[in-house]
Amino acid sequence: MGAIKEVFLPDIGDFKTVDVIEILVKAGDTVVAEQSLITVESDKATMEIPSPGTGVVKELRVKIGDKVSQGTVILILEASDAAAPLPPAAPKAASAPMERPGAPIAASSVPTPAFDSVPTLPPAPAPATDSATSNTAHASPSVRKFSRELGVDLAGVVGTGPKGRILQTDVQTHVKAAMAGDGAPAIGAGFNLLPWPKVDFAKFGPIETQPLSRIKKISGANLARNWVMIPHVTNNDEADITELEAFRVQLNKENEKAGVKVTLLAFLMKASAVALKRYPEFNASLDGDNLVLKQYYNIGFAADTPNGLVVPVVKDADRKGILEIARETTTLAAAAREGKLKPADMQGGTFSISSLGGIGGTHFTPIINAPEVAILGVSKAAMQPVWDGKQFAPRLMAPLSLSFDHRVVDGAAAARFNVVLVQLLADMRRTLL
Ligand code: COA
Repeated sequence: MGAIKEVFLPDIGDFKTVDVIEILVKAGDTVVAEQSLITVESDKATMEIPSPGTGVVKELRVKIGDKVSQGTVILILEASDAAAPLPPAAPKAASAPMERPGAPIAASSVPTPAFDSVPTLPPAPAPATDSATSNTAHASPSVRKFSRELGVDLAGVVGTGPKGRILQTDVQTHVKAAMAGDGAPAIGAGFNLLPWPKVDFAKFGPIETQPLSRIKKISGANLARNWVMIPHVTNNDEADITELEAFRVQLNKENEKAGVKVTLLAFLMKASAVALKRYPEFNASLDGDNLVLKQYYNIGFAADTPNGLVVPVVKDADRKGILEIARETTTLAAAAREGKLKPADMQGGTFSISSLGGIGGTHFTPIINAPEVAILGVSKAAMQPVWDGKQFAPRLMAPLSLSFDHRVVDGAAAARFNVVLVQLLADMRRTLL
């Protein structure tokens, strides 16, 4: 059996008393030299008190909230290396600065406790720094270390300790919530968001709980990521599709027997493919610091199905005629509604269209389908009085809402892209140029 030794709080620099804010070991634990035993906090800094040697903790003599000063017995240690002379007191690598926002950061001493003696320590090395946001969080060095190991940004963790201090249990709770996909925390971990509101809805009236469909769960997670990670801007414009609509109706009459119904979607795809060729940065994806420009034009379209939203893709839309595109979108939309799309049907898209025109609305903000960089939202075309230079004329105007990733596309380029789409839809002969 090793010698029973008292471990004292060492010289803690300028502070007479400090608060014990964390106990990092318990009776029965085996500790090694330099392992942190407790964390103390002054009004300026937090410090971890390391063990002066190896041994087994026999008894704790302090608890959280105690005020301690130099010489206070922290714990009793049965030293396994007692026979050997203790190594000279060596400061711990670093102690994190005070974390409370706005508090002055003190260059704190890094104490080393001692057996039976109370040494004075050399000044501490420079404090370790975390990321700017984490640094403002109120947490002890061990909690910071713990959160770093888990890759958790403390800025997003809600502290439940005294004065809002973040405890190890808070980090664990945060991680559990993130793993469980408990509303906002996972996605908002780096955004310092409030936890998702918990409301007992049944308290206010009868409710029915339905599980989300598999598609809703998958697409919801994708939409949420895309919405928060991509700086979206939406450029709105209107295309005069009066002539195009007349042509479409005519075309459908002629093709009635062929069984191919042409909707505006086919023209939107064709026009988009032409515009994408003119503005290649819209047919691209970010890859770190590089922009990958694709030389194929695969256009996805959002399809509303009973189970949620899916995005089948028409491959090589630039090389296909209107009838071929219409045939393909009809087949893909039917497969989508029946839940029969194959993974390949939804892969390889370079740009997307979300057409709500068959339903209604004026303009909306479509969410970009990452890793694409733009998406065209189309609302219901409506007859409008349009000034032709001499008089107001009734024209069928289709609202176009182009959302773009502002990291890749400038606002001016988006406005030009939309203007080109407007010109192409106003006169589809331009797609031949
Ligand atoms: N303005 C006016 N009418 C429009 C229109 C527009 N922008 N777009 C389509 N229409 C018309 C069509 O021409 C058709 O009219 P018709 O029967 O007289 O020929 C009618 O609306 C119905 O068209 P629809 O069945 O919707 O076909 P579509 O090819 O336009 O769209 C889908 C196919 C799959 C895109 C569509 O059914 C769908 O699911 N849309 C919802 C997409 C969605 O949910 N987006 C939201 C993502 S956040």
